[in-house]
Amino acid sequence: MKRSFMQLKHIVLALALICVVSACNGNGELKSTQEPIMSANSSLQSDSGGGLAPVGDKIKIGFSMDTLLEERWLKDKDLFKAAVEALGAEVIIMAANGDDAKQISQAETLIGQGIDILVVVPHNAEATAVIVKKAHSVGIKVVAYDRLIKNADIDLYVSFDNEKVGELQAEAITKLVPRGKYVYIGGADTDNNAHLFKKGVFNIIQPMIDKGDIRVVYDQWAKDWTPVNALANMKAALSANDNRVDAVIAANDATAGGVIQALTAQGLAGKIPVAGQDAELAAAQRIVEGTQTMTVYKPIKALAEKAAELAVKLAKGENAGTDRKVNNGKIEVPSVLLLPIAVDKFNIDETIIADGFHSREDVYKNVEK
Ligand code: GAL
Repeated sequence: MKRSFMQLKHIVLALALICVVSACNGNGELKSTQEPIMSANSSLQSDSGGGLAPVGDKIKIGFSMDTLLEERWLKDKDLFKAAVEALGAEVIIMAANGDDAKQISQAETLIGQGIDILVVVPHNAEATAVIVKKAHSVGIKVVAYDRLIKNADIDLYVSFDNEKVGELQAEAITKLVPRGKYVYIGGADTDNNAHLFKKGVFNIIQPMIDKGDIRVVYDQWAKDWTPVNALANMKAALSANDNRVDAVIAANDATAGGVIQALTAQGLAGKIPVAGQDAELAAAQRIVEGTQTMTVYKPIKALAEKAAELAVKLAKGENAGTDRKVNNGKIEVPSVLLLPIAVDKFNIDETIIADGFHSREDVYKNVEK
């Protein structure tokens, strides 16, 4: 029978204890030392009776992040850490800032640090499959956080309903522009979410395209989700269409920022509806200022807490208790998908501000004295 990592950890600790109590040396001979033995994950201290009791045998979670160079992931980092600690566990966090090789080597480092479970935000949906193999080879389970790892035997996927994100964007924009020329600025081609967001958008607009009401005049991925790549894409879209574009859907707020920069340069900001996603502060400000139409708010606290709760359960050898599956090209992954929320200038107060995601003061900074 395969033993879980936690079970093995307890065996190591128990052996260490036997060794201290019986004061044996490596050959099993008795010796007089009473020095405590520290295993990688545990510490020993005297209990009230003067003996040695295990304490601090906390579950240790490794959190391998793609990047910390975007506002959203800084929130994930802090909220996940807080959620893990509230459960009495601990987390070691490493971020690769968009470098696939670095993310793989950081995951190896985490595995080598005696973690009980690995939680991964993959930069590249395919390249990170190797991390799953490495973790599994030493009995460590892997949770995909927010972004799916493809073609790998991952144990759990916790995210939002990402197709729904795209649908919310397209519903909001098609209400305002039921007919016309559309530009779609996608996210990183290497991120499975970018494909789901796009799928959601086309779920809504394809029937309108088929009817001849909507024409998509430009459709490109923005490499690595960067505003500068989205800016270049939007410039190209505008010049190819003599600035005659009626609506833009950008895969997130960072790319929407690049789009709005390109529109501003042509005196078009605020005149063409633009959708984004993430409820970043800059986007929330653009919404109340009138240059961005909407964003999609994903309550990251709920994601972080769910991921932390289920990671701890899995590490303890318990069942995560999920009720849905997502196919990742190899297996049906047990999954939890939380609901995203559409936000525009009319409901911004009762959503992201009411939730404390951003303060009212920060959001309205440039429009209210
Ligand atoms: C996606 C994520 C978005 C956005 C983007 C860029 O995978 O779901 O919320 O942050 O990455 O990092």
